[in-house]
Amino acid sequence: MKVPFYKHQLSGDAARHIAPVLDSAILTSGQTGRDVEARMCACFDVPHAFLTNSWTNGALAALLALDISAGDEVIVPAMTFIATANVVELLGAKPVFADVCPDTLLMTPETVKAVLTSKTRAVIPVHLYGQMVDVAALRAVVGDKIHIIEDAAHCFEGELNGDKPGTHSDAAIFSFYATKNITCGEGGAVISRHTEFAEKLAATRLHGMSAGAVDRFRNEKYNHWDMVRMGVKANLPDLLAALLPEQIEAADAKLAQREEIAGRYESAFENDKRIRLQKPIKGARHARHLFPLGVDPLIRDEFILGLNSAGIGCTVNYRSVPTLTYYRDSYGYGPDHFPVSEHWGQGTLSLPLYPTLEKKAQTRVIDCVRRELDQLTRQAA
Ligand SMILES: Cc1ncc(COP(=O)(O)O)c(C=O)c1O
Repeated sequence: MKVPFYKHQLSGDAARHIAPVLDSAILTSGQTGRDVEARMCACFDVPHAFLTNSWTNGALAALLALDISAGDEVIVPAMTFIATANVVELLGAKPVFADVCPDTLLMTPETVKAVLTSKTRAVIPVHLYGQMVDVAALRAVVGDKIHIIEDAAHCFEGELNGDKPGTHSDAAIFSFYATKNITCGEGGAVISRHTEFAEKLAATRLHGMSAGAVDRFRNEKYNHWDMVRMGVKANLPDLLAALLPEQIEAADAKLAQREEIAGRYESAFENDKRIRLQKPIKGARHARHLFPLGVDPLIRDEFILGLNSAGIGCTVNYRSVPTLTYYRDSYGYGPDHFPVSEHWGQGTLSLPLYPTLEKKAQTRVIDCVRRELDQLTRQAA
């Protein structure tokens, strides 16, 4: 029995949402996207939401709106996907890595405090795997002058102490990439409570232009536009935005299914001394985007190959970013700079987790994990 790592939840049936866009005059960002943005505002109780064509471009637009540039430092966790650091590096600013907590794998106020300098302009906490960093506690440590942009790529459904992403930050950014809980293939969204920031983001999301396509041709006549700031091309076309409302509507029901599967994995593995799991945080609602395990780094790669040979898809989220060639060479990081992140990055792998993962497939994953681990630990003994 093969169990793929990931199965998206869309089908040809979703084409019915795209048909009205094709029948309209606007294929790029128009009313369909605006309706989704209004829905996002209601969902997160924020006044501003902007759909983007990826998390990455949304983050670039957000950093440009905050005037982050050369000479500035932005703190990011060492345990994350490369995009979190790359957006800072691309703008000529310096990504400063903070290590993570060994239990939650999240950056903490303490690890951020340890790397704060007079050049720190922003912090990007990552709600890794779907569990939220305590942004309120982070705000208390960094104060009001340092911007906080939440990387909520994994965390559409997450909450901490009843607070959703966007509550204590300048902005929170989501990803609607192909494997995310909610997806339109490629996409994302930036939400914010701050009107001044939102006004700038409206421009930085679209080349720095003062008006989008719809506004440039408002009232069926051409209206001049200006370029007011530097920006990127980050807007999401209506063709893709049309796929989102149905999934946003179903998010809670799908989360319950993800929760059930994750709960099953947790009960199967929590007492196995060979396995480490991300520790749940009290008061957190986990978005259950990924289900990572930690095993002995010495056997991790063989373990993955064994699972793959048994037909179980798995992947690594993530190797510690400062250990990757570009960051190691650019900044001279050694093996001990971010020990918690590095150790987790060498021992982690993620198991299949999606709402349509059937019970017998879950059982197969659990059995294969145990069998492969038994075999590898026997070999090592
Ligand atoms: C934590 C994290 N941040 C950012 C991104 C980038 O998202 P996108 O592909 O939408 O640019 C990802 C994508 O996998 C991610 O996992």
